[in-house]
Amino acid sequence: MLNKFIIQKNKSIKDAMIKIEKNGLGTLFVLNNKKLIGVVTDGDIRRVIISGKKIDEKIDKVMNKNFIKIKDNFSRNKILEIISKYGHKVRIYPILNKSGNLIDISTKERLTIIPVYSPYLQGNEARYLSECISTNWISSRGGYVNKFENHFSLLHNGRKSLAISSGTAGLHLAIKSLGIKESDEVIIPNFTFAAVINSILYERAKPVIVDVDKKKWTIDINEIKKNITKKTKAIIAVHLYGNPCDLDNLKKICKKNKIFLIEDCAEAIGSKYKNKLVGTFGDCAIFSFFANKTISTGEGGMIVFKEKKYFNRAKMLRDHGMQDTKKYYHNEVGFNYRMTNLQAAIGVAQLEKFNEIIKKKIDVFQNYHNYLKKDLSIKFQKNEKFSINTYWAVGLIINSKKFFYKKVERFFRNKGIEVRNFFYPLNSQKIYRKFSTKQKYNTDQFVVKGITLPTFPSIKKDEISFIAKTLLNYLKKIR
Ligand SMILES: Cc1ncc(COP(=O)(O)O)c(C=O)c1O
Repeated sequence: MLNKFIIQKNKSIKDAMIKIEKNGLGTLFVLNNKKLIGVVTDGDIRRVIISGKKIDEKIDKVMNKNFIKIKDNFSRNKILEIISKYGHKVRIYPILNKSGNLIDISTKERLTIIPVYSPYLQGNEARYLSECISTNWISSRGGYVNKFENHFSLLHNGRKSLAISSGTAGLHLAIKSLGIKESDEVIIPNFTFAAVINSILYERAKPVIVDVDKKKWTIDINEIKKNITKKTKAIIAVHLYGNPCDLDNLKKICKKNKIFLIEDCAEAIGSKYKNKLVGTFGDCAIFSFFANKTISTGEGGMIVFKEKKYFNRAKMLRDHGMQDTKKYYHNEVGFNYRMTNLQAAIGVAQLEKFNEIIKKKIDVFQNYHNYLKKDLSIKFQKNEKFSINTYWAVGLIINSKKFFYKKVERFFRNKGIEVRNFFYPLNSQKIYRKFSTKQKYNTDQFVVKGITLPTFPSIKKDEISFIAKTLLNYLKKIR
């Protein structure tokens, strides 16, 4: 990726002009091998040409040797100090290691604001994408879709995988391909993203909203038992924020009542229950690769099945309901829920770093936990001992009378930190309320008392420490 923004010192002004024209940033970093020795901007080149220099002169004769740099071990305060001094004139900052080698570039925005999420794209993503473009395979045909599906299946115990356009498309395909239809009931947790309930409503089936466990924030088994009827056809178990649901009991209930188990792993890729990856327990499981997800393709998703017959049906429905062997002949009203080769190319590169990304996300949680565990007003999501949560988001509930998410969001924004509120529980939203099963839910205070912190693989330790200190100081202030 850096290649577009660098030039070796023995190249000419003309070479630099060509590169600058293409990279769109108006800046080039001049290297002696890997070491950064100068910077040129489009303005610098214009000025040297006006002054009469020839375009075949070497770039190191005209570059700026006095440039602003950021070392990768600089503290956050030091970086903010540099930016407040030079931010008005520097578009893009070089990041150097201790030997002075250029290892990254960054914008003023990224250096001053810690985002709530940032995808981890430092591998083969750009290379595979550019291969799709140079070979003209940009739609849903092309080798990367198969590669992505095959790699995903291998990871998930051989389950048949279909790459799709989003996690929501996956939920809808799950409902439709498992044969759930009008007036069938599907049990879902109250605390989740709305795509879960919407996918049921698309088919005019009936969502049954049950409560979640107070500490784990995932669907409560006893509440499921209370709400099973003859019409219940499926349970959607959402592994919320990465925390695996009680899968042994869910499987038992589903078997006993002959209903489907759909796992929503949108936020939980890589999480494990009793040493097995989530997504390999239910009749079907869906994943999301939206840009803020642990593995990302921009937009996109995957659906995996236990049984081949449902997989085949979902495959046909994904592709307009068209017959596999008879082109343009349709068996059913289907959808275009395909993933493009471009998205799959990113996905393949992301899966190459699967273990690395998962490890980084777990480390992010551990770091936050070490800083915050001593404050007894902070409640973390509780995991079972035999589960591994991969922490799509580090969510906290703050047990303090004076803590109100809205106020703290403003406080964090002023410090350059992006945070998020919890999902609005479904029963608290007017359009879904009629599907509630009780008056008071364990989630009633979640939006007021909950906060999710920046949780992305490349967040730095000193950024985590800054965020944690900011929260602890805030809590001290309101006590
Ligand atoms: C639990 C859950 N299910 C489903 C989805 C939908 O995924 P997508 O955004 O890829 O449609 C999301 C997205 O955030 C989610 O959090």
